[in-house]
Amino acid sequence: EKITLSVIKADIGGYVGHSSVHPRLLETAERCLAASKLLIDYRVAHVGDDINLIMTHKYGVDCPEIHHLAWNIFLQCTEVARELKLYGAGQDLLSDAFSGNVKGMGPGVAEMEFEERKSEPVIVFAADKTEPGAWNFPLYKMFADPFNTIGLVIDPKMHQGFRFEVYDLIKNERVEFSLPEELYDLLVFIGAPGRYCIKAVYSKTTGEIAAVSSTQRLNLMAGRYVGKDDPVCIVRCQSGLPAVGEALEPFANPHLVAGWMRGSHIGPLMPVGLNQSAPTRFDGPPRVVAMGFQLAQGRLVGPQDLFADVAFDKAREIANEIANYLRSLGPFEPHRLPLEDMEYTTMPEVMAKLKNRFVKVGREAAKERFAAELGAK
Ligand code: 13P
Ligand code: MG
Ligand code: MG
Ligand code: MG
Ligand code: MG
Repeated sequence: EKITLSVIKADIGGYVGHSSVHPRLLETAERCLAASKLLIDYRVAHVGDDINLIMTHKYGVDCPEIHHLAWNIFLQCTEVARELKLYGAGQDLLSDAFSGNVKGMGPGVAEMEFEERKSEPVIVFAADKTEPGAWNFPLYKMFADPFNTIGLVIDPKMHQGFRFEVYDLIKNERVEFSLPEELYDLLVFIGAPGRYCIKAVYSKTTGEIAAVSSTQRLNLMAGRYVGKDDPVCIVRCQSGLPAVGEALEPFANPHLVAGWMRGSHIGPLMPVGLNQSAPTRFDGPPRVVAMGFQLAQGRLVGPQDLFADVAFDKAREIANEIANYLRSLGPFEPHRLPLEDMEYTTMPEVMAKLKNRFVKVGREAAKERFAAELGAK
């Protein structure tokens, strides 16, 4: 019998600013999930200002009742957020009316349905102050890089490789790559994480789902600044899949992701324990937590706070050093994102104000001047 693991998340209002979630919101979510008859088990967690609902049940992915449950919880949390005047109350709820699925309505979703194995270790990754493409680099390392994952070399059930499903978030299309044969083709796309995101990974040996991520572009959906999409990702581990340590290893080398202050900067993704997950320096740097669970008949045994390990201290130190350096660049690229990738900009207003002060230069301008002089003669 199959079970479904659903992680649905949203920013319902920050405490203080965009740094964390107020305990009363977590209590509200906890109470609603406890009252639901739909679930086998659940956990409420947060990273920065984003609430994660981690749920197990038997209804498959995209189940309207489960999505509705999450949506209603976010609505109830919004009431509390309004009462406390938390920052951006209801920030990630882009619609007033629920229409069967929270996809495209603001909250992020990662879900997978599978037959629970003899032992079923899973990791729920959650990040704040960044976007779904932030998973491209670590998912690539976990499932395609033998220098990260020795299992690809020496585990007979991994040696065939994995299938990667990639979404184009601009054109709303999906495409699959079979690795290792199509590794170079895959990299052409996922090296551009603002547009192409790894949505899911499947084992070629068993055909089973191995990883799934939340993919959306909030600002494209809303048409205005609504913060970053602060993504989640589920990775199943061991026996034919990456070991837990292989799934965590990519984060030991903090990679650069888009997000941070006002969703408009590049910064290192810092792996942290759950009690270090409130980003405050320049609203960052971007953060990722890893919650490990053993599933037992759908029960969530855990979480184990996987990045709390002192072995990730060095990664945090490196991330802090990178953050320091990037901050010294202030409003200059590549710390600040290119104009077209920023979540908000004053460019149109500044442009309008200065419109009449822009004077043409270059060859065309010289030709025009010459023509005007001839005409005057
Ligand atoms: P969030 O997406 O986490 O709300 O961040 C928004 C922001 O502007 C941070 O400076
Ligand atoms: Mg926020
Ligand atoms: Mg956030
Ligand atoms: Mg956000
Ligand atoms: Mg052992």
